[in-house]
Amino acid sequence: MNAFDDLLGKRRSIRRFRPDPVPEAALDAILAAVQTGPSAGHLQAFRVVVVRDPGTRARLQAAALNQDSVGHAPLVLVFCADGPTSAVKYGARGEALYAVQDATIACTLAWLKAVDLGLSGVWVGAFHEAAVAQVLDLPRGVRPVALLPLGFADELPPPRTSRPRSDLVIER
Ligand SMILES: Cc1cc2nc3c(=O)[nH]c(=O)nc-3n(C[C@H](O)[C@H](O)[C@H](O)COP(=O)(O)O)c2cc1C
Repeated sequence: MNAFDDLLGKRRSIRRFRPDPVPEAALDAILAAVQTGPSAGHLQAFRVVVVRDPGTRARLQAAALNQDSVGHAPLVLVFCADGPTSAVKYGARGEALYAVQDATIACTLAWLKAVDLGLSGVWVGAFHEAAVAQVLDLPRGVRPVALLPLGFADELPPPRTSRPRSDLVIER
């Protein structure tokens, strides 16, 4: 297995975290990784909100079906689609699709870089969008699409398998 395969294997959803903070250098490296990603027209039509404040994390937890991972992780990154930025060049498709893709690529890169640095996290998609936007006072048109609680793991993930490749791949 090469280093990349090893990284892919290590990335699992972790929902319990030790209280230790995420080092600032790690956060900086994660954000640098995010900046390397592809985006439609290289517009980088996404925003990342960095949330360390426990009160804000508690309010995000409430907006995310009360999921403990959100309130208890020492750091939560909130990936947002910046629809208006993509719409300038790509109109409705940019607003509805490309900006969301830009944001979700950014979240994926952040998660993988975090794992590369010995951190763990979980992609949280179940939340009330308007409530998260209000907690974070997001600019108009900037939509939260994924929360990424990050920290040092305090649990081992259970084994899991993939659906068979034949379910996932369509050949034509
Ligand atoms: C779009 C998306 C939304 C998800 N939403 C949640 C969520 O709200 N809460 C949660 O605990 N996990 C969430 N997950 C994590 C999945 O449950 C997890 O990735 C899946 O069970 C596979 O496990 P693994 O990440 O350990 O490989 C989400 C994952 C994705 C990609």
